[in-house]
Amino acid sequence: MTTFLVIGAAGKTGRAVTRCLTSQGAVVRAAVRSPERAETAYAVGARSISVVDLATGLGLDEAVAGVDGVYHLAPNVHPDEVAMADRVAGAAARAGLSRFVFHSVLHPDDASMPHHLRKAEAEKVVRTHLPGATVLRPAAYHQNLVGPAVSGRLAVPYSLDAPFTNVDLEDVAEVAATVLTHSGHEGVTYDLAGPEVLSVRDQAAVATDVLGHRVEAVRVDVAEWAAGPGATLSPQARADLLAMFAAYDRAGLVGDPSTLRRLMGREPRTWGQALSAV
Ligand SMILES: NC(=O)c1ccc[n+]([C@@H]2O[C@H](COP(=O)([O-])OP(=O)(O)OC[C@H]3O[C@@H](n4cnc5c(N)ncnc54)[C@H](OP(=O)(O)O)[C@@H]3O)[C@@H](O)[C@H]2O)c1
Repeated sequence: MTTFLVIGAAGKTGRAVTRCLTSQGAVVRAAVRSPERAETAYAVGARSISVVDLATGLGLDEAVAGVDGVYHLAPNVHPDEVAMADRVAGAAARAGLSRFVFHSVLHPDDASMPHHLRKAEAEKVVRTHLPGATVLRPAAYHQNLVGPAVSGRLAVPYSLDAPFTNVDLEDVAEVAATVLTHSGHEGVTYDLAGPEVLSVRDQAAVATDVLGHRVEAVRVDVAEWAAGPGATLSPQARADLLAMFAAYDRAGLVGDPSTLRRLMGREPRTWGQALSAV
């Protein structure tokens, strides 16, 4: 049986990837930061747990021993994500692994977003260790806005009319499982964008139809965001997200859905379908 190590397996993306891999019969060893997160990973089908500290690399060599491939993702807007990629890809290379998938982001070379540039740097570091690694570059997930839509309010600190091709996390996870479990994706980079161009105003209108209750789109001031949800973040994470909001305000985040469509052999899930799934 084929075993894959999923980094960050107890997080939002890692849970979706683990669930998809295990539903296809693969065995997942879940890399978690602390043993307290084990239950979360077991709940989505992980067979075993490795406690790993991405900040120091502790536990990585043991975690990669005996697996057939690694799915690596960094914690969201983490200042150390380039070094984390170096540690994980380095451990995989030392273990002689070739199947390695790195979870990047759509448009990593966009210089207006420091956390995107770190992803671009991390991609290079991964390829230095493992030239055959596969890189996935997902757009923003539908799921980021599902909870707010259900609560009736999409409040964002950028233009309500900026365009986005958000992607369904379940589709991203499906592609993640495909490229981990099948050959033919070595050394390739894939953009993963959703099938519709929608603004937050459009998303609120679709959500109102699909959910059957009014969903309003509200633009909040960035200062209000910084003093509210942003206040609990580290100064660096707050600055990264403020830069992201400014970039979203100018141009949204738009990609081409054709690669995702081709990799899945079907239409990617729409925003309405993501809402219907809750
Ligand atoms: N959200 C989007 O729309 C989107 C789109 C494209 C790309 N991405 C990228 O996807 C990646 C994952 O995002 P996410 O929202 O899934 O993140 P997440 O939910 O925060 O998951 C990250 C996981 O990493 C773990 N972690 C944090 N620090 C660690 C450490 N020092 N050692 C070991 N594990 C550690 C966390 O552990 P705990 O569970 O203990 O906290 C968590 O389980 C990010 O790099 C993000 O940029 C996101």
